[in-house]
Amino acid sequence: MVRAIAILIGAGFVAVLSWALFWSIQGVITDPPAPTAVDEFHLHPKEVELASNGFFGTYDQRQLQRGLQVYKEVCSNCHSLKHVAFRDLTQLGYSAAQLKKFAADWSVKAKQFDPKSGDTTERPNTPSDYFPTVYYPGTGNPPDLSLITKARHEGPAYVYSLLTGYRDQPAALLKKFPDAKVPDGLYYNPYFANLNIAMPPPLTQDGQVTYLDGTKSTVQQNAKDVAAFLTWAAEPNLPTRHAYGLAVLGFLLFFCILAYGAYQNIWRDIKH
Ligand code: HEC
Repeated sequence: MVRAIAILIGAGFVAVLSWALFWSIQGVITDPPAPTAVDEFHLHPKEVELASNGFFGTYDQRQLQRGLQVYKEVCSNCHSLKHVAFRDLTQLGYSAAQLKKFAADWSVKAKQFDPKSGDTTERPNTPSDYFPTVYYPGTGNPPDLSLITKARHEGPAYVYSLLTGYRDQPAALLKKFPDAKVPDGLYYNPYFANLNIAMPPPLTQDGQVTYLDGTKSTVQQNAKDVAAFLTWAAEPNLPTRHAYGLAVLGFLLFFCILAYGAYQNIWRDIKH
């Protein structure tokens, strides 16, 4: 008897849920939500060839140095890089003396609390300091870039596409969605999640940064180099990780061969 009641209650639940499911699906099919400007005009990041891509990927030190230069001369006016320390840049091939100077010359100084006077004073950065946080009074909130390539889907390609993706708002968009005009103070960029970004185009002309290694400085190249640099900032040990991965796979392969040999040996005289 109790069992029959339990089954009935269960069947009641299933019926109510199926009823709700049916009507919600029916609603979506007969009256689908209207497409938005984002649905139609948002673009997936472009492919970008970087040395760190793929299974065997590693970093191209010279590219990272160029990327650091782009970050320093362009992005660092607005964006912090607070999880990277100056001394981490040894991985980019700089000597201790170069880094000491680089840190000391960095325009935003390190803050220091003086316990005697209670004041916060400034001092030049040292290699063991992290990149100091940047104050940004303009529109929007520039995110810290230390982990941005991890925080966004297809990070390196996204950064590259975003930087090279600024354009005029397409007429077709306004025709179809007259209310979707780019708000004042924002810029149209189809790679940004909502199409309108508060960041003014940071790379506007070729030659904006003068490379020391002779590489031609175009907007595309600057964007690619800074994307590579930010990939490094977010994951400095990627080459080690890839090398370990390969070594482990090699070991497993070797172990498989050994195990197969052992199996052949043990079962040699036994019919099976
Ligand atoms: C004039 C200041 C300024 C400069 C220079 C600048 N940015 Fe930005 N950036 C911003 C602001 C403001 C935002 C926030 C935009 C928003 O949320 O609408 C932003 C956002 C971003 C984002 C995040 C987009 C997202 O998905 O949230 C990335 C990545 C980025 N900037 C990269 C760069 C790089 C790389 C450079 C240097 C080449 C750079 N920015 C130079 C102001 C700046």
